[in-house]
Amino acid sequence: MSEFKQLVFSGVQPTGNLHLGNYLGALQRFVALQDTYECIYCVVDLHSLTATLVHDDLAEQTRAIAAAYLASGLDPKKNIIFNQSRVPQHAELAWIFNCVARIGWMNRMTQFKDKAGKDRENASLGLLAYPSLMAADILVYRATHVPVGEDQKQHLELARNIAQKFNNDFSEHIATHGYGVEMEVGEERVNGFFPLTEPLIEGPATRVMSLRDGTKKMSKSDPSDLSRINLMDDADTIARKIKKAKTDPEPLPGDVGGLEERPEAHNLVGIYAALAGTTVQEVIRDYGGRQFSEFKPALAELAVEKMAPINAEMRRISADPGYVDGVLREGGERAGAKAEETMKMVREIIGLLDN
Ligand code: AMP
Ligand code: TRP
Repeated sequence: MSEFKQLVFSGVQPTGNLHLGNYLGALQRFVALQDTYECIYCVVDLHSLTATLVHDDLAEQTRAIAAAYLASGLDPKKNIIFNQSRVPQHAELAWIFNCVARIGWMNRMTQFKDKAGKDRENASLGLLAYPSLMAADILVYRATHVPVGEDQKQHLELARNIAQKFNNDFSEHIATHGYGVEMEVGEERVNGFFPLTEPLIEGPATRVMSLRDGTKKMSKSDPSDLSRINLMDDADTIARKIKKAKTDPEPLPGDVGGLEERPEAHNLVGIYAALAGTTVQEVIRDYGGRQFSEFKPALAELAVEKMAPINAEMRRISADPGYVDGVLREGGERAGAKAEETMKMVREIIGLLDN
């Protein structure tokens, strides 16, 4: 019996400006994978409705993320690049997954707890069901690998739980239709319709921290702009933010172990390693024992060297919204055809009348 075909899927929400954390944790990884895998990269506009339902610039923001994908080096011929809402099968499968997943699973999600805050009763149902739509994004293509930053790990575990429960609950129907695929789960070989997707959380910058506080994640929603480097920051701004980044008074340690308990130093070294395409060990080998007064200018120079061309390319691409819209439209057609193949089988497995 055949195995699942290896396929990468990932998505970014069109909310706010992208920052260095998004670039190093997600976009740069997406680009690295395009040579070895078939990849589908999505701008998850439906997800962004869970943050604010009414956006004045949702279409603009959607184009901006697509432009960032392209500017980072994703090839729209090689990969499928599109926005989620164009392919209604995502929402259709999400509904089915809402009936597979348990409320208790959703209630345990740390992102939900953080975002809902104290007044959980008043959070939108969409915010609670968010991971179910995310599972649908991935599984409507039966994708096997998902590159994301560390913060998405729990959501991907939930996607595996949903896939597993669907496979179990419908095992007989899946077998009747002959839609089962064999896969390895730990030591065992099992048969199911949806793959148990592997997270790809790799490299030295899976969790880029705030430049103002090494214990907080770099985030779009931090009120301080000095806490993050935005993809659209110019060279002077990048250099200034790195110069002002919080550090401790010690020089960089001589070995990697010395970065423990030093969150700001660890973060800057991780950023350097990810930008240079090397490891934390290598950076410590070169800069161990040096003062931040030496390391920061080197980091600023590297960040400007790597980010300035992306920034320029993003501006160039954004100047032609027709081009970006064309990429998303064509990507949407290709994605839609694949998603419909899966949904036809899902409808049959469930027994929905669909002829
Ligand atoms: P979001 O902006 O929340 O839609 O995130 C888009 C992608 O960027 C996801 O794969 C996140 O895991 C990743 N990401 C967001 N913030 C960071 C961060 N501070 N460090 C590393 N990856 C991040
Ligand atoms: N939840 C992800 C984030 O906030 C975005 C996302 C939605 C996603 N659907 C996805 C990521 C599917 C990977 C795969 O970053």
